[in-house]
Amino acid sequence: MNKDIQLWETREIAAKYLSGVRGAIPLAAEQIEVMLMLVKGAKINVNSFLDIGCGDGVLAAAILEHFPNAKTVLLDISEPMIESAKEKLSIYNNTDFIVCDYGRKDWLNRVSNSTPFDLIVSGFSIHHQPDVRKHELYEEFFNMLNVNGLFINIEQVLSPTKWIESIFDELFIDSLYKMHLKQGNSISRDEVAEFWFNRPDINDNILALVETQCQWLRQIGYRDVDCYFKILELAVFGGRK
Ligand SMILES: C[S@@+](CC[C@H](N)C(=O)[O-])C[C@H]1O[C@@H](n2cnc3c(N)ncnc32)[C@H](O)[C@@H]1O
Repeated sequence: MNKDIQLWETREIAAKYLSGVRGAIPLAAEQIEVMLMLVKGAKINVNSFLDIGCGDGVLAAAILEHFPNAKTVLLDISEPMIESAKEKLSIYNNTDFIVCDYGRKDWLNRVSNSTPFDLIVSGFSIHHQPDVRKHELYEEFFNMLNVNGLFINIEQVLSPTKWIESIFDELFIDSLYKMHLKQGNSISRDEVAEFWFNRPDINDNILALVETQCQWLRQIGYRDVDCYFKILELAVFGGRK
């Protein structure tokens, strides 16, 4: 079985992610603000967009607040994640939910009726793909964007050194610990650290340096490519067509 399906297939794991790690991502609100700032700055009327690896649709929800009539495609490999996205976005009626693996090239057939898009966003998803496939995906996105269309990836990227990685680990453990305290859970910081270093997706992460990924985007033809925001391993990067 595909490892991504294994990882995200159960409702329990999906729920754990949504109420746990997602809620504890440092500067998560700021990452979304930067995404919205870029969309605003691109001066595009978002008539259509794709949230790929959408999870519960957290990114799509932020965009739909500003462009409530946009034709929205939400794609995820996990049925439970798509179910929670449906719930979250139930007030919108121009949404299309697709359960599909974008690791396989035939995902393109599943969205071809909805292309081109004005905007493609992704949050913490593509780092499960090998680098060759990441690069291909960025090319596939480029080909399905309108001119002036924007691609924004909010993503975990590789620390350039082990020391920097250790600082990131401490940041995330602190953040998770604070979240547990806020939720009234009785858990020690050591237990949180134990979870963090043994989290279920740790061996499925194939992180790549943000500089490398920005370079790929430039080679593909994106312009205004940059890492627009970053704290340690958490980056917001992308470009315009
Ligand atoms: C860490 S979650 C992030 C969800 C959401 N984008 C967010 O920002 O909270 C990663 C999501 O990517 C999805 N995903 C991972 N690999 C995928 C693949 N090959 N095809 C489609 N979805 C995938 C998972 O099912 C999961 O919902």
